[in-house]
Amino acid sequence: MDKYIVNGGNKLYGEVCVQAAKNSVLPVLAASVLAEKEVRVAGAPRISDVKNMMKILSCLGCRAEYDGDDIFIDPSPARCWEIPRALAHVLRSSVFLLGPLVARFGRARIAYPGGCDIGLRPVDLHLNGLKRLGVTITESNGYILCGCKKLVGNEIMLDCPSVGATENIMLAAVKAEGETVIKNAAREPEIEDLQKFLNLLGAKVRGAGSGTIVIDGVRSLGGATFRPMADRIEAGTFLIAAAMCGGDVSVNGISGENISSLLHKLRENGCKIDIKNDKINIKREGRLVSVKSVETQPYPGFPTDLQAQMTALCCICSGQSIVTENLFETRFKYVPELRKMGADVTVVDRNAFVRGVDRFTGATVVACDLRGGAALVLAALSAEGRSEVLDLSHIDRGYGDFEYKLRSLGADIVRVAV
Ligand code: UD1
Repeated sequence: MDKYIVNGGNKLYGEVCVQAAKNSVLPVLAASVLAEKEVRVAGAPRISDVKNMMKILSCLGCRAEYDGDDIFIDPSPARCWEIPRALAHVLRSSVFLLGPLVARFGRARIAYPGGCDIGLRPVDLHLNGLKRLGVTITESNGYILCGCKKLVGNEIMLDCPSVGATENIMLAAVKAEGETVIKNAAREPEIEDLQKFLNLLGAKVRGAGSGTIVIDGVRSLGGATFRPMADRIEAGTFLIAAAMCGGDVSVNGISGENISSLLHKLRENGCKIDIKNDKINIKREGRLVSVKSVETQPYPGFPTDLQAQMTALCCICSGQSIVTENLFETRFKYVPELRKMGADVTVVDRNAFVRGVDRFTGATVVACDLRGGAALVLAALSAEGRSEVLDLSHIDRGYGDFEYKLRSLGADIVRVAV
């Protein structure tokens, strides 16, 4: 397993381009099983979650391969409706295939999904939604088995606005008979992106981005070429890196609107933020000032996927902060590693109580999940001295060319095979 060696303390200067959003590409790849012609996902990121989703598509019988920066998919040869344990365990988003497989084959068998170990992450809302469309579900030996003669549209009220459940239900409902209405739907921009893709295929979906999504089922779907939206979490990670290290960085290809909750906090932290078209510039010179509280919420609230990076930032602010994680129970696993670098953080239930220190000091730390791993890299970049960040497989799930991009901004970071 590779590791990063980081000599901290360099300020960051320059421009960096954002990759296509992992959380848009994954459901779009799952949706391509529904297509009846070829699909091209333009400018797809080379990250392991996407590669694993392509492996799953191949295992189902689809042709799925990179063509330069694009992913090309021919779903027509797919004959299989089962995802084995080994593949489902490496990728939580394998669960997105329940909806499309049931819509295409009338059945699906999927091992309980894996992914980041950040809490219980049940799939009850996915399954209840599918049941409302006429799917019968049995669970045994760690597998979920779905079957249906015919999908029929219905009204579905989600108990909480789950991103994955909203997307899964959309993916089944596009081929259901009649109208489906999803209420209390998640409002994340990636769901609007999925709506755009489905409508390019010939689906009839409206309302994504609001709490109510209406889907009129269609009999067949064609193919499409689709360029997914920019990755707001990757963009946010670079902005927080610049805030922590100081300097002057422009993050290109991202709309400020999609991460306004982060930009508000960074301004409170004392950073100067300028937004022009699809470019966000951040400058930080003086000491970072603490914000009293950061609380993760469904979109448009502060994203849970930036919580770890923001906690790392709070660690080197001038005062105290409280970071509250409302979505996932165990998303503070990286905190003991930050403490090895000199952070003063105490976690009680869903709250991290942070007392700012002057700076991090270099240490050897272990990445234990995707965003927690990114937070450790940011801490190492801003630290005094040398750090090693071990187990990069988690970071590779979501950040393509991470060290190249950081080096292009002046960071001293190298990847070493262990
Ligand atoms: C997606 C994102 C992930 C992000 C998360 C929240 C993708 C591929 N992943 O994950 O990066 O951190 O949204 O923004 O898009 N829940 C249930 N039952 C369910 C489903 C969810 O109780 O059936 C709960 C979860 O435990 C959690 C909350 O709902 O507390 C939100 O989870 P959800 O929005 O579903 O997250 P994911 O779709 O897994």
